[in-house]
Amino acid sequence: MAEEIAQNEQKNPYLPFGDRQDAPFYGKDILSVKQFTRQDLEYIFGVAHEMREMVQRVGSFDLLKGKILANLFYEPSTRTSSSFTSAMERLGGSLIPINEVHYSSVAKGESLPDTVRTLECYADVIVLRHPEVGASELAARYANKPIINAGDGIGEHPTQALLDLFTIYEELGDPDGLVITMLGDLKYGRTVHSLARLLSLYDVQINYVSPDILKIPEGIFAEVEEKGVPQTENSTLEPVLQDTDVLYVTRVQKERFEDPSDYDSVKSAFIITSDSLSIAKDKMIILHPLPRVGEISMEVDDDPRAAYFRQMEYGLYVRMALLAMVLGKS
Ligand code: NCD
Repeated sequence: MAEEIAQNEQKNPYLPFGDRQDAPFYGKDILSVKQFTRQDLEYIFGVAHEMREMVQRVGSFDLLKGKILANLFYEPSTRTSSSFTSAMERLGGSLIPINEVHYSSVAKGESLPDTVRTLECYADVIVLRHPEVGASELAARYANKPIINAGDGIGEHPTQALLDLFTIYEELGDPDGLVITMLGDLKYGRTVHSLARLLSLYDVQINYVSPDILKIPEGIFAEVEEKGVPQTENSTLEPVLQDTDVLYVTRVQKERFEDPSDYDSVKSAFIITSDSLSIAKDKMIILHPLPRVGEISMEVDDDPRAAYFRQMEYGLYVRMALLAMVLGKS
């Protein structure tokens, strides 16, 4: 943790004209949700809310004109990469998209430290998705420009957790007092790992529902417990659904399984249908980081509680806020 904080000290001593050196996240990396306090989150969501209003009012504006984002994705992505692209472009900045590392020098065997040191010659901020846990921390150690972790293997996905929590704020208000139920692949789902940690800053209750082989990692359970947040582990949804305010559904992460027969044994463990929601609260919201692969039946999409498409839109505003903040414009 101390090491992480040290790495997150302001990096770039050369302040371009117009940048606010006193902006709280100026020049910082976003590597893990562990780096945030509740006060930080309120600040980020305040900026995200302003971004939402600006986009709704004017669409795009030139806050980051002249700034360049490098989107470096070593794993597939639709929402994360395109929302960062859209965020940068709506703020008047531009983009170096490296979505297919097979066509970059990575395919020639270039190391991650060398790739990020190359990209930072051309870009002001780097968004990185990588299959290995800790990859963004490694990149941040070598880069002088801010690194934003867009998912490091089964580790973390901090910007997703921020947008998940922003969705909760915008849809239900302050999370204090809420019951959050996380369902699906809690072992390999990095979004769950980040969200559980982030929620531990609030006065919430967390229920985990998963097949036995996909339980929340013990280390994360212990971290959340240490913060005094009540948690339960369950193998079925029914007993906890009635009291749930936020149902967070995840897909089973096929690509993380060593043994395909293990995947087959759990791939259809939970399927949310309109029927299964009949006992849920009227004001509950259903979130999903997406993509879904069958765990929420399409008939649920028309239920007003299905918030997963709205959640994607909130992601744009959070990512606009983060880019503006690390580049010293907010
Ligand atoms: C998630 C991810 O990449 O971890 N997707 C996303 O960023 N919205 C979830 C997943 O792939 O299941």
